[in-house]
This record gives sequence, C-alpha cells and structure tokens, in this order.
Amino acid sequence: MTDTSANIIKFPEDFLWGVSASHFQIEGYPTEVESRLSDWSRWTEEEGRILDGSNADRACEFHKRYLDDIELIGELNLKAYRTSLNWAALMPEAPGTAVSERQFAPLVVEYYRDLFSRLKEKGIKVFVTLFHFCLPDWLAEEGGWTSERIADEFEVFAALARKHFGDLVDYWMTVNEPMAYIYQGYVAGNWPPGASHDYLGAFVTIRSMLAAHARAYHALKGGDEAVQVSFANHWRPFAPERKWSPLDLMVTHYRERVFNHIFPESIDAGGLKIPAPLSGRKEFRELEGEIAGLKKSMDFLAVNYYTRELSRFDLSWPPDLFGTRSNRADYPVNGLGWEVYPEGFYRVLTSDINPYLTDIKGRQRPVFVTENGFATLFSPELSGGDWSLSDRERCDYLISHLVVLKKAIEAGVNIKGYLHWSLTDNFEWSEGLTPRFGLVRVSYEDQVRKLRESAELYSKIAAANALETIDR
Ligand code: NOJ
Repeated sequence: MTDTSANIIKFPEDFLWGVSASHFQIEGYPTEVESRLSDWSRWTEEEGRILDGSNADRACEFHKRYLDDIELIGELNLKAYRTSLNWAALMPEAPGTAVSERQFAPLVVEYYRDLFSRLKEKGIKVFVTLFHFCLPDWLAEEGGWTSERIADEFEVFAALARKHFGDLVDYWMTVNEPMAYIYQGYVAGNWPPGASHDYLGAFVTIRSMLAAHARAYHALKGGDEAVQVSFANHWRPFAPERKWSPLDLMVTHYRERVFNHIFPESIDAGGLKIPAPLSGRKEFRELEGEIAGLKKSMDFLAVNYYTRELSRFDLSWPPDLFGTRSNRADYPVNGLGWEVYPEGFYRVLTSDINPYLTDIKGRQRPVFVTENGFATLFSPELSGGDWSLSDRERCDYLISHLVVLKKAIEAGVNIKGYLHWSLTDNFEWSEGLTPRFGLVRVSYEDQVRKLRESAELYSKIAAANALETIDR
C-alpha cells in the first residue's frame, strides 16, 4: 500500500501573487499596428520571420479588453500585474523638437493611466517595464541600441513615464532580459535588428543598454529614494553537455558569465568589463570602463526563470557565443523543448543571485520572480471546444517551481513575490501564436478567454497563500 499524506506549504504573509506580460505580446494597439510604428510590428510583416506565419496585429486585443482581463486577475485572487509600456505608440514620431519639449501621445497616456488606476483600485500592485524588446521604428532606423542617441532617448522616455504614471506604478523595470534580446537580435538573428554573429554589435549594445539603464534609473527615481527601480534578468543555469569534457566546461563557464552575470555584475560594479577571450581585441576593450550613474542602480532583483541550458564546445563557423546550445534534454520538456528543471530555479534563487543580494546601503534587496511559466503548443486557428483546458503539465511545473521557491525562502532568500508568465496565451515573438503560456486560454478568432486547470489551481494557491502537495 502507498502512503499518501498531504503537506501544506505556507508562504509568508505579505507574499505577492501575480501575473506578467508585455505590451506587444498582448495589446494589438491600433495605431501601432495600422502605422507599423515599432520595429517588431514591421518585423512580423517580413516573409519567414515568424515560425507559424502569424503576427501580433490582434494578439489578445488587450487594448480593447483590458477591463475584462483586470476582472479576471481579480477573480483569480492575484495582487500583482506586470506589463510594459508601448514606447512606439507613446512616441510615434521621430523627434523634431528639443529633448526638453518631447511629449507622449495623449490618448496612449489615457489608456495606460486607466489600466494602472483600475488595477490599483483592486489593490493590485503595478510592475512596469520600459523596454520589453520593441523600439519605435524611427529609433530602430537610426540604429536602435547602437545609435549614439539611444541613452538620451531612453532617459526622455523614462522621465515622461515617471511624469505620467509615477503615481500609479509600484515597481519599475528599465529593460527586460537584455541578454536574451541581444542574443536573438545580434547573434542568432531571429529578432530585430536581425544581425547574425555580430559580436561587436552585441557588446556595443550591452554597453549602451547599461548606460541607458543608468540614465533611466535616475530619471524614474527623480531623486526620490522610495521609488523602486531595477531591470529583469533572465537567469538560466548552464551545465556542460558532457560533464567529463574540459572544453564543454570552458564554454559553459563563458556562456554563463556573459548571459547571466554581465548585466547585474556591471551594474553593481558601475562599469563594463569585457570577458576573455574577447578582451584580447582592441575594439572590444574600448567598450570597457566606468558608466556614469550605473553603480548599484538596482533596488530589487527581478528574476525571470524558465529552464537550464546544456552547452557544448563547437568548432563550426561562425561560432555561437563561445560554443553552442545542446539539443539534448535530460528532463521532461515543454512544447518549445525547454527542460522542466526546478532544481535550476533553486540554484538561481539560492546561489546564482548571491553576489547581488545587497543594495548600495548594504540592505537586502527584495527579490521578485517576475517571470516563470510553461508552454504548450496549439495552432492559432483553434477556437471553441475543450482543447488544452486540461493542462496537467503546466500545473506540475507550477507546483514544482513553487515548492523550491518556498525552500529558497526558508533558506533565507528575501523573496517577496511570484509573477507567473502569463495570464493569457500571447504572441511568443519569432515563434508566433502557437506556443501557449497562458493560465487562461485565448482562442484568437473570437478572443474568448477560458480558464485552464492551472488558472484554477493558481487562484487557489493565491487565495490560500499556500500550496498543498501530496507525498506518495
Ligand atoms: C521571456 C520574455 O520576457 C517574454 O517576452 C517571453 O514571452 C517569455 N520569456 C517566454 O519565452
């Protein structure tokens, strides 16, 4: 006979439960779509860029349906919501005016103010990212993150964001997953600007994003210590594909240092250091050095975690970031082939983030998990019926990751909240609408939302502030 007993895992009293999203993946913002105001909106028009041939023109029509979606967030007992600002719609035209005279488009301001106010009315904390992978097209045309003006422009954007939304936002993030963006846009070529193996472009962008982050950090705070600003880092534990191979171990080490650590390390140090072997080249070394206002410009840690990466040494040309990502999987995978690896989440929370736990005054930085989730694959054409409402794998993913999160809290990590990616299915960048990350299913044809089992489960966990697990 098997012994079956239930364990109740309680979370700290003020623990925040929420969901996370980004504007482009859900909004279908009319002016952006009609006039192709962002680089991403244009990118989706290019033949072959999006794996399933879909685009984000409608996405979840969040722009029209946000009142209903806020209701859903409330019904699910959630108290935190993260999204990003649509920079392209807020600043649709190339600036002809002096920096000090720049304005946001009034209708777009109205929309975001209404969204954030309604969330606040329901007691939902608002987390806002400034840059979640989309640039205004006029800025992308000028070179985007490699343009000389980018830090000035980002600072203006941040200052206006503070002016219009500062009273409604609880936590700001300047940039989302900079290394995922840089890898896809400058190395893999899957995202705008579509460069491939452009390592110099990648490192120029690292430097300019750090400089822009610093400027935006101070613009958002506006001298007010209480304003909370950070950036969201994608954490991915790296492991060698062949444990016995010194070459795999070496590339694992390089990839991990660059991908996980280059941003938080540079922020705490106040400047950029180029890793070996690139530091051997003059044009890379010239990017090194102090960055004004950068030191310790991070008030909390925003952790995005999905999976780990197995790395292997690879001699093919041109080289990937010092090696290659292996296709091998030692654990069950999600629809995108990403290993389900909660042990890695524990490692990130209790060890990888350790160097960054204290702020400029030596206080413990609060830690928020700002993304974590599981993808299944269903074609965008599906509507009606009961497809995918039973999502046992997502439920298991959620539970196993929350179990280790609680263990990390017990181990002393100052984790204050967990925001699941995502409330609804949405546009997964170059993978299109097929990967479904939603607790809530969206049938794109009629835009009907239906709760999956995972939504019911998550809602119970949030209401009880506790998780029940069964030992067999
Ligand atoms: C990270 C990104 O921030 C988000 O945009 C993306 O959809 C999820 N991960 C899932 O890949």
